[in-house]
Amino acid sequence: EQQKINIALDGPAGAGKSTIAKQLAQKLDILYLDTGAMYRALGLKAKKCGVDPKDRAKVEALLPDTRVDVIYQNGQMRVELDGENVEPAIRTQEMGMYASAVAAHPGVREYLVELQRKIALENDLVLDGRDIGTCVLPDTRYKFFITASLEERARRRFAELVQKGEKSESFEAVKAAMAQRDKADAEREFSPLSCADDAEVVDTTEMDIDEVVDFLIEAIDTRRHQA
Ligand code: CDP
Ligand code: CDP
Repeated sequence: EQQKINIALDGPAGAGKSTIAKQLAQKLDILYLDTGAMYRALGLKAKKCGVDPKDRAKVEALLPDTRVDVIYQNGQMRVELDGENVEPAIRTQEMGMYASAVAAHPGVREYLVELQRKIALENDLVLDGRDIGTCVLPDTRYKFFITASLEERARRRFAELVQKGEKSESFEAVKAAMAQRDKADAEREFSPLSCADDAEVVDTTEMDIDEVVDFLIEAIDTRRHQA
């Protein structure tokens, strides 16, 4: 069987990974795997069980009794935790922090990376996350590191909150929380956020979504024809 096409988009929070990954997958008519949603689901599990997400032993002890399933329905992905749909509960800023905390534990990463690799073996995918190019699929030829300035990423995230009617937090608070999560993701011991040596860096600070998607389609095409 021919090898699947797996496109890795890594980078910090708010860089535009998920928005871009979804559109790219749609244009290429392949599936999108949001690996962050899987970490968010395990963050939610810790919260539901009253476990401190930073406590490695306690979080890892939850895993044997936990099920994370990735389900595709009409091309749309959703994550189920112990058989239940976790959208939109995982999409809060708090769950972003919980996800980042549980994602630091090696048992959690092994558990989810195995599942991600299995899905990637069976499907053509665009995957977004922090460690796809460095750890999950180091051999894929399609690797991009999507980034933007902290100011711009915080501006985008804040605009999203305003749009959703969640204006309780100030711009400065959103920016500080984002900086803190990036720092934790980049400094953790296991699979930290980092750019793979063979990834192409795409700075989207001054690019809109369509420009990024078009750029990626060309870059993918170029890489496809490289031996
Ligand atoms: O997945 P990630 O955290 O990297 O970012 P996202 O959730 O896809 O994007 C955060 C917000 O930035 C979304 O509201 C996007 O529509 C917006 N965005 C943008 O305005 N310009 C871009 N070039 C990329 C994303
Ligand atoms: O959308 P946003 O970029 O804010 O976050 P996300 O992609 O949903 O990821 C939430 C958290 O999960 C991140 O801060 C990382 O700590 C963790 N994560 C990870 O460690 N590895 C991945 N492949 C994806 C997410």
